[in-house]
Amino acid sequence: MDKEKNTELQPYKKGMLAVRDSARKLPDSMSDLVCRKLIRAACEYRKRAYTPYSGFQVGAALLTAQNEIIGGCNIENAAYTPTNCAERTAFFKAVSEGKKDFLAIAIVGGKEEKTEEYCAPCGVCRQVMAEFCDPATFLVILARSEEDYMVYTLEELLPFSFSGKNLQ
Ligand code: THU
Repeated sequence: MDKEKNTELQPYKKGMLAVRDSARKLPDSMSDLVCRKLIRAACEYRKRAYTPYSGFQVGAALLTAQNEIIGGCNIENAAYTPTNCAERTAFFKAVSEGKKDFLAIAIVGGKEEKTEEYCAPCGVCRQVMAEFCDPATFLVILARSEEDYMVYTLEELLPFSFSGKNLQ
């Protein structure tokens, strides 16, 4: 396996992180306590997932710059393509309430009630995040539980992204 590459992608883990060569602490804007609170909220919203087709239930909790938490779940549809991911549900709820400054999002998901895997956001959701967030500072928390999570910057998950800046 590509060991070198693996090391490069070492995420924040349990409050501490090693990215590339240097150990990196969680940024001041984000404490372990806040991560846990967001994960707890994501787990609650996950219970509302509407997933009659995939049975894959996802919950997301978005933290605004005003320290509010906006949650979301995935909502499926018989025609499949109208399905909305949990992350986008949270973003669209927030933006429609006039909130556009975000610090972080926690994501919890898996088949039925399981959380054996970390649920990484799909490409479309990463692009939606890039529309509203600074990729260098916005944090994406992938959690299996409150004690077991990884934190990435959006830039790490969506490098060299296309944004409104490209259209100026
Ligand atoms: N899903 C999410 O809600 N978020 C993700 O990050 C990945 C996928 C949903 C969409 C669909 O309802 C189900 O999971 C299976 O793809």
